[in-house]
Amino acid sequence: MKRIQYHEYGGPEVMRLEDFEPARPGKGEVLVRVRAAAVNPMDAGIRAGRLKMVTGRKFPRGLGHDFSGVVAAVGDGVTRIRVGDEVVGGASIKGAGAFAEMVVAEEKGVVKKPANISWEEAAALPTPALTAYQALVNKGRLTTGQSVFVAAALGAVGRSAVQLALTMGASVGGSCRGSAVQEARDLGVSPVVEFDFDPARLAGRFDVVLDASGKLPLTSAKTLVKSGGHIIDIHPAPAKFVRAALPGPYEVLVASAVPADLEQVVRAAARGALRMPIAATVPLGEAIPALTEFERRSGPRGGKLIITS
Ligand SMILES: NC(=O)c1ccc[n+]([C@@H]2O[C@H](COP(=O)([O-])OP(=O)(O)OC[C@H]3O[C@@H](n4cnc5c(N)ncnc54)[C@H](OP(=O)(O)O)[C@@H]3O)[C@@H](O)[C@H]2O)c1
Repeated sequence: MKRIQYHEYGGPEVMRLEDFEPARPGKGEVLVRVRAAAVNPMDAGIRAGRLKMVTGRKFPRGLGHDFSGVVAAVGDGVTRIRVGDEVVGGASIKGAGAFAEMVVAEEKGVVKKPANISWEEAAALPTPALTAYQALVNKGRLTTGQSVFVAAALGAVGRSAVQLALTMGASVGGSCRGSAVQEARDLGVSPVVEFDFDPARLAGRFDVVLDASGKLPLTSAKTLVKSGGHIIDIHPAPAKFVRAALPGPYEVLVASAVPADLEQVVRAAARGALRMPIAATVPLGEAIPALTEFERRSGPRGGKLIITS
């Protein structure tokens, strides 16, 4: 079996496509024959060693989290998923290894893939859509008729949030690059502002402010949010957790594997209510140059990079 792995933390140059022996799934785990995997910003960060406290120093380590595929084996205690099931999900931060022919994931990280979405469409969903869902529902407590502001409304998390919020009957404003304003409008975002907008124009208009960019100043978020609303930051850092523990609208989200939440977003995709554009699809054998280019390129990416195997 082949997978992309690395023997030390570092930049794109540490990636290797190598043979590996897939682990037998342990208790509560499933082994999946990967059909498609999707790239997320965290993949490069983890490979660079930014989460060493979690990912440790045991090498080689696999790369990639989000995938779709067919279950090849299940470990003890697995009850929801069977061998032969077509699934979509994410490998844990510690486990990783989705850019591969086979990956081991926790059962709680996967759900069944609806037949009417492709392997590629399914793989594009887990991390961004689950994050958006948990931000809006679990943290933002969004309800019908409320309003949301999504900073970076056309990124993977941002566009998931826009579409999910609209399906919940909320109205959605948001920011994007100046050249993409019409695209954001077409997605249903109104008002649309550019990244360097003046928040005073939209003061106190939103029940939920989701920063999917990591670049929205907290002062701007505070200006945008209504009294009693929620500001959700998905770029965790120790000092931010301290701030989030204080009274006020500010909260930090680290998305977590909750099958019921993943089911919700997968069902939205199956209904056609949640779509993620795909920028490029490459086979596993050609993925390292594509990953390197994707990571180094600045400016809009135009959607997900998908790796098929
Ligand atoms: N806490 C969690 O559990 C969690 C989970 C998932 C993701 N995240 C984090 O959330 C972030 C977004 O993830 P993603 O998958 O949506 O990434 P993505 O698809 O690459 O989207 C990033 C977005 O940021 C926009 N952007 C770039 N420069 C900007 C600026 N100066 N001001 C405002 N926006 C700007 C991009 O716009 P252009 O396309 O026009 O450049 C794009 O829309 C990443 O940092 C990721 O690590 C956190």
